Amino acid sequence: MKICCIGAGYVGGPTMAVIALKAPDIQVTVVDMNAARIAAWNSDTLPIYEPGLDDVVKEARGRNLFFSTDVKATIAAADIIFVSVNTPTKTYGVGSGRAADLRYIESVARTIAEVSTTPKIIVEKSTIPVKTAETIQQILAANTSGAKFQVLSNPEFLAEGTAVPDLFNPDRVLIGGERTPEGDAAVETLVSVYARWVPRERIITTNLWSSELSKLVANAFLAQRISSINAISALCEATGADVDEVANAIGKDSRIGPKFLKASVGFGGSCFQKDILNLVYLCESFGLPEVAAYWNQVVSMNDYQKRRFSARILKSLFNTVADKRIAVFGFAFKKDTNDTRESAAINVVRDLLAEHANVVVYDPKVPAAEIMSDVLGKGETNPRLTVATSAYEAALDAHAIAIVTEWDEFKTLDYTKIFADMHKPASLFDGRNIVDLAKLRAIGFRAHGIGR
Ligand code: UDX
Ligand code: ADP
Repeated sequence: MKICCIGAGYVGGPTMAVIALKAPDIQVTVVDMNAARIAAWNSDTLPIYEPGLDDVVKEARGRNLFFSTDVKATIAAADIIFVSVNTPTKTYGVGSGRAADLRYIESVARTIAEVSTTPKIIVEKSTIPVKTAETIQQILAANTSGAKFQVLSNPEFLAEGTAVPDLFNPDRVLIGGERTPEGDAAVETLVSVYARWVPRERIITTNLWSSELSKLVANAFLAQRISSINAISALCEATGADVDEVANAIGKDSRIGPKFLKASVGFGGSCFQKDILNLVYLCESFGLPEVAAYWNQVVSMNDYQKRRFSARILKSLFNTVADKRIAVFGFAFKKDTNDTRESAAINVVRDLLAEHANVVVYDPKVPAAEIMSDVLGKGETNPRLTVATSAYEAALDAHAIAIVTEWDEFKTLDYTKIFADMHKPASLFDGRNIVDLAKLRAIGFRAHGIGR
């Protein structure tokens, strides 16, 4: 069996590496039109940072895992084609700012139809709006020269930073297909791939639309929990309650559960906001404005939380940060990844620059050029924004520190030394509640957390 995966990104790369590792008899080739990205996958420095991934790639690469820019030939040779291309939010025209931009999906469908001469199973891996399978089917049907296609939905639930353990041991694998004999056979083929390492009872099969929708709903529910606890964090700050104590108390209720209740400066990542906006757009398109408004509030609350964090910094620094040096610890949207998409850090840094602060960012994995272009735009510079190579360097002569990403190394820094090198009063704003505020106050910091 031959698998082709189109798109060598955060989803396609790790997923295919694990399939190749677990199924040595299947030849897995990941293709991408981005030659630099493919070169990086073939090098010792992979294009994405993900704990444990290097070992998986080292073992399978060259054996039955390949990375290539030859998109057409790989598609032509494959039995199963995973589509893992990006589906950004549209920035123009109808649905701008909410609907998914499906141009990459459509272009892939056209290429598949053009080069295929043998039957293929097409698997949607990218998160896509409900009913995209229908679009793919129509494009294939209108352009094929006779090859037979089955379209399946197999959304990926891995979280960045824990992608490898998530893929090794998924809570569930979801496969949606057409409820026809041909559809069922295609579903069974894909089930047999995962069944090599995932217990059969954890592989759920549904119809196409249920599978596509489940992905959006899973992300909406997860993001909703974060917005819910973040909403409560504002109330905690006003009343003197401690949001971590509240989260712990409610999380003990087995109906609520303890996970995803960590108050923060706001959720980021490529999925949550995009998928909720997609869900909102879908509801509006189907004439369900009340449902749309309900889910939209999860995103609004997240925007509020990000703004609230920068506003608090400004207020605590006597309502002016102009020409003050602010050290921002962390830039990735969460720890253990170099991904910065929708990171709250982008908003926080922009807010501080708008107040004429001198901002120094340090992140252990995000390159300086990425930080600059995320905040300012590609190729732009601003003398007020610089990047440091350590937390200590960033904090040198700073008036305040803002912890934005929960990297483990920020928990064990020598804050006594850092305090000594800062302007006084020295403030610290912990946007992740990872440091001990009482200890910092004992050192002399004016220390603030989220929701306490
Ligand atoms: C998410 C889903 O978890 C995953 O199933 C889906 O496939 C893709 O989207 P990801 O975005 O990689 O994964 O990371 P996740 O761990 O979900 O974190 C998302 C954001 O929420 C991060 O910014 C994180 O810091 C934040 N978060 C998470 C909180 O602020 N509090 C929490 O309790 C949990
Ligand atoms: P994700 O986080 O969903 O994996 P990424 O943006 O990291 O998203 O990866 C998507 C990849 O898909 C990019 O590397 C992009 O170059 C690739 N891609 C998009 N369209 C095509 C296409 N038509 N053919 C080949 N690769 C494509």
